[in-house]
Amino acid sequence: MKERLDKFIATQTALSRKEVRRAVKDKRVTLNGSAVKSADVKIDAQSDSVALDGAVITYKEHVYYMLNKPSGVVSATEDRAEKTVIDILPSELRRAGLFPAGRLDKDTTGLLIITDDGDYAHRMLSPDKHVVKSYTATLDKEPQADIVTAFARGVTLADGTVCKSAEARLTGGFDVSVEISEGKYHQVKRMFAALGYHVEALRRVRIGALGLDESLREGDFRELSPDEAMAVFG
Ligand code: URA
Repeated sequence: MKERLDKFIATQTALSRKEVRRAVKDKRVTLNGSAVKSADVKIDAQSDSVALDGAVITYKEHVYYMLNKPSGVVSATEDRAEKTVIDILPSELRRAGLFPAGRLDKDTTGLLIITDDGDYAHRMLSPDKHVVKSYTATLDKEPQADIVTAFARGVTLADGTVCKSAEARLTGGFDVSVEISEGKYHQVKRMFAALGYHVEALRRVRIGALGLDESLREGDFRELSPDEAMAVFG
């Protein structure tokens, strides 16, 4: 199916249509190897080769990025006061419509997915899907074994909210490995608070069958294949 060149580039990159028109004027865009003269030329995204500054733009309906979220950035697309996970995206990964699929607190680190696929995020976050999220929590003191049974029974938060059964495993020192299938506000911290502990550090390490790529440093992103992205439901 044919579509306008400026629309194609604007959906596949961070450039607005106006910026695409400017890039065409500046001879930064080629179509099948030749400089494009007009931004409203029609192209076939499947068979034509469009390049911006010499880099071919491969059509993708959606993209899925894994971020090893650093502490100090908020899980939002924009914020007047704070730096967001979208602000720290490298320019070559930018495109329109990206947002974080779910939230981690500002001081929480680890696995966060950034996508432009609203249906995917909706499915992943839907309470009916019971997608399991795994965290490593570092507590302010040595965890006692009764945490495990309290989590399994379902912790009652300070405001009376009863959490679903969850898994806690003591992994040595002040660390506890936690698996929850809900996404209540500050849930892990509030579960531990209800049992008399303060969470000093929290890191998400897995969503469904998708583990955090340990080779990613905090603040690094990498694109996920569609199969990897779908592993959150596995
Ligand atoms: N639970 C929390 O308390 N904080 C997070 O960021 C994620 C889960």
